[in-house]
Amino acid sequence: MSTAVVEGPMPCPPGDLDQLVGLANRVFRPHGGDMRREYPLLFDPENLENLRVVKLDGRVVSHVGLSIRDASILGFPLRVVSVGAVCTAPEARGRGFATVLMQDAVAHSRANGCSLMLISGSRGLYHRMGAVNLTAFLKCRIPANSVPPVAGAIKVSPAEEKDIPLLSQLYQREPVRFHRSAEDWHKLLKAGMLMNHEADTFAAYDSRSLAAYACVQRPTSDSPPRIGEYAGSRAAVRLMIPWIAKYYSAGSVEITLMPRDVEMQVLLQNEGAAFEHQPFGGTVLIIDVPAFFAALRGLVKERFGGPLEISTDENRVTFRLGNEETSWAPPSEITTNVFHGPPNNEKTNSLHEALRLIFPVPLLWYGLNYV
Ligand SMILES: CC(C)(COP(=O)(O)OP(=O)(O)OC[C@H]1O[C@@H](n2cnc3c(N)ncnc32)[C@H](O)[C@@H]1OP(=O)(O)O)[C@@H](O)C(=O)NCCC(=O)NCCS
Repeated sequence: MSTAVVEGPMPCPPGDLDQLVGLANRVFRPHGGDMRREYPLLFDPENLENLRVVKLDGRVVSHVGLSIRDASILGFPLRVVSVGAVCTAPEARGRGFATVLMQDAVAHSRANGCSLMLISGSRGLYHRMGAVNLTAFLKCRIPANSVPPVAGAIKVSPAEEKDIPLLSQLYQREPVRFHRSAEDWHKLLKAGMLMNHEADTFAAYDSRSLAAYACVQRPTSDSPPRIGEYAGSRAAVRLMIPWIAKYYSAGSVEITLMPRDVEMQVLLQNEGAAFEHQPFGGTVLIIDVPAFFAALRGLVKERFGGPLEISTDENRVTFRLGNEETSWAPPSEITTNVFHGPPNNEKTNSLHEALRLIFPVPLLWYGLNYV
């Protein structure tokens, strides 16, 4: 009797990339489509080290894809790993391959300096390792006829390659964002995808320069066009909405507000927009507690002026203020409290009040960086 040979978890060998894309297409695009075209940051020959696979008898049968990027939260830098295209060939499921690949993904990402993991899925596989669902965003739907489609001095058109330097300049000004290189911009714009949907990007110019852009998931039979990333002047984004509705002949447009975008919120609120909570499109886990809190040290100092001490280990963070002390553990609870805010059941004392000044911290929104 021959025994099956299992190799990995390991980086995808260069000669196996086509086979890996074939597996991803078989699992995620059984009716057509090409994951390599749709996810250019992931299935990039330069990203092989981050395409983690298990091989069975010489064939790639299981995969966890990682896209590692620097990011910033309100100007404080941290490295983030986005996890996507997690799959196991149907004939190899239930043998623990995806589980060991996810454990490997955490170890590999930490070794590469990542402290936060964003996973584009929500299931037992991720919850068992501590990843949590978060509802940290807002969305609303705006009727097409709410302001005239001719946007005053704003001229809207589909964004082109030549717009990339200006798109990038606007995105750079966003307070919570990925660091997106010019090369990434080219690949992402060419892919024409936004958070697993076909998408278009529109540019709004005023008389002098680019005022705003909006990336829009194309409408389907049961959903309107959805703005899933924007940057620049919020007033200009608002003016683009009727134009976008007209472009797709849609009766309304949905917009997800970028993290803690008070300006857009006030603008839409004044028009009577009704907001709904928008969950993060997957699950989230702080995978390196000490590194994550080190990254946010400056943010904490800006939000609270007192003598707060923060100490961390792999699984726990402890806050001390004078002789008051509280701990959050394990990482699943830490992740929830950081991005949702401290739990209400904590004692009301000076330490608790300090923590309420510091948390929640705005969570990154994937936008074009979704994998
Ligand atoms: C999800 C998936 C990657 C799991 O791969 P796997 O190698 O079978 O995973 P493991 O053996 O480590 O076990 C984990 C999962 O398999 C399930 N499982 C356990 N025994 C199983 C069996 N005999 N047959 C099938 N699935 C089984 C577990 O319940 C667990 O799923 P959960 O996340 O719903 O809790 C695989 O089922 C798959 O490719 N599904 C389709 C694509 C997909 O949904 N990807 C995830 C996107 S978020």
